[in-house]
Amino acid sequence: MEQVIQINGGHTLSGEVYVSGAKNSAVALIPATLMASSGEVTLKGLPDISDVKTLVSILEDLNIKTKLSNHTLTVDAEDAVNVPLADEKVELLRASYYMMGAMLGRFKKVVIGQPGGCHLGPRPIDQHIKGFEALGATVKNEHGALHIEAEELVGTKIFFDIVSVGATINVMLAATMAKGRTILENVAREPEIIDVATLLNKMGANIRGAGTETIRIEGVGHLNGAAHTIIPDRIEAGSYISLAATIGDEVKVRNVIPEHLDALFSKLEEAGVELEIDDDDVIVRRPKAYKAIEIKTQAYPGFATDLQQPITPLLFLAEDTSKITETIYPARFRHIDELRRMNAHVENRGGSVFIHPSKLNGADVYASDLRAGFCLVVAGLLAEGTTRIHNVHHIMRGYSNIIKKLQQLGAHIELINRE
Ligand code: EPU
Repeated sequence: MEQVIQINGGHTLSGEVYVSGAKNSAVALIPATLMASSGEVTLKGLPDISDVKTLVSILEDLNIKTKLSNHTLTVDAEDAVNVPLADEKVELLRASYYMMGAMLGRFKKVVIGQPGGCHLGPRPIDQHIKGFEALGATVKNEHGALHIEAEELVGTKIFFDIVSVGATINVMLAATMAKGRTILENVAREPEIIDVATLLNKMGANIRGAGTETIRIEGVGHLNGAAHTIIPDRIEAGSYISLAATIGDEVKVRNVIPEHLDALFSKLEEAGVELEIDDDDVIVRRPKAYKAIEIKTQAYPGFATDLQQPITPLLFLAEDTSKITETIYPARFRHIDELRRMNAHVENRGGSVFIHPSKLNGADVYASDLRAGFCLVVAGLLAEGTTRIHNVHHIMRGYSNIIKKLQQLGAHIELINRE
């Protein structure tokens, strides 16, 4: 039995859509909870996605008590035990790598398989390893599993060679429990990093500077329970805003922190889209005619790589050719071949894609990763006729209740089971 998303395209959308808690925060916050050796940690506002369920199940394998209901997770990690993590779960998502930093911090040892996740081309973790080693850990690769171990973790100064979200958070997790002061330089500045530092500080950590290029951490010996509400998902928000700009009449996207999306807003406005930006909401209105734009992905606060795929269908509507250059994951263009099945006219040249005006037709297409999947959903809603999207598990990993949210906007979309 295969699950397929079936879309009957060509109908405009209108109404309201509510953004869930941030996936890329949740996948770090959940591992962080295991570092509390006393008290309960409560996370509120979690998205309803399979990545969350997988991580909760990994915690349970460590004898950690969890309760997940109504977007709230409570974790009691007092009696946690340190066992090698099951490969098949670790492989389900990239962010299982946060178990490294969290378990190294709490137990000074972790045995873990290679993390999986979206195929966006090579995704090395050398900067994570460099950070753990600088804190005093030894890292060995034995039969495909990483053994990371330290007699004690000792704070130090670490300059990352590459600005990496994952390495920043992972090393911050471990350094929270190191002896003395750690200074992390050339770190990523994504809002999710601030969210994780905020939870850790509520649990008793001493972290300053998250959201800037330098993070200073005074190690502590013990972390406690705490309660935390997760930030809204800026990528989910940006995905729905892009969708509304492409195929919406007037759509209100609710539960947004607009400051997280400045780069997207400026590109949409350049394309002619009208945005009414309030404190927590954005109203999106399509223009009569779209202008072609150029996008170059960059680390935060630049244009997010995670949004170049969702915004692509809008560019087919422009009067002229648009250009997208991907600098974070140069191979993150696997959705382009799928769009070609839908009659899209796109050229790949010199690490960029050139998107020509095109009229899309429905087709059978395959999601290669999470954001590629959302791009195909927007393309399907825009196209004339029926689109069937295969490999939907990629989409369910990261978009909370996507079918229901789109149906509420009037989309002709359903999840069907096929033999
Ligand atoms: N990199 C290295 N070595 C490292 C780490 C990263 O060379 O040790 C490179 C990567 O290959 C990439 C660049 O550095 O070229 C940036 O990667 P980063 O580590 O920042 O990415 P990540 O932490 O693995 C997170 C998000 C991604 C998002 C990227 C970039 C999570 C769980 N994932 O990945 O989100 O695309 O940052 O912003 O937070 C998604 O949500 O669909 C998604 C893929």
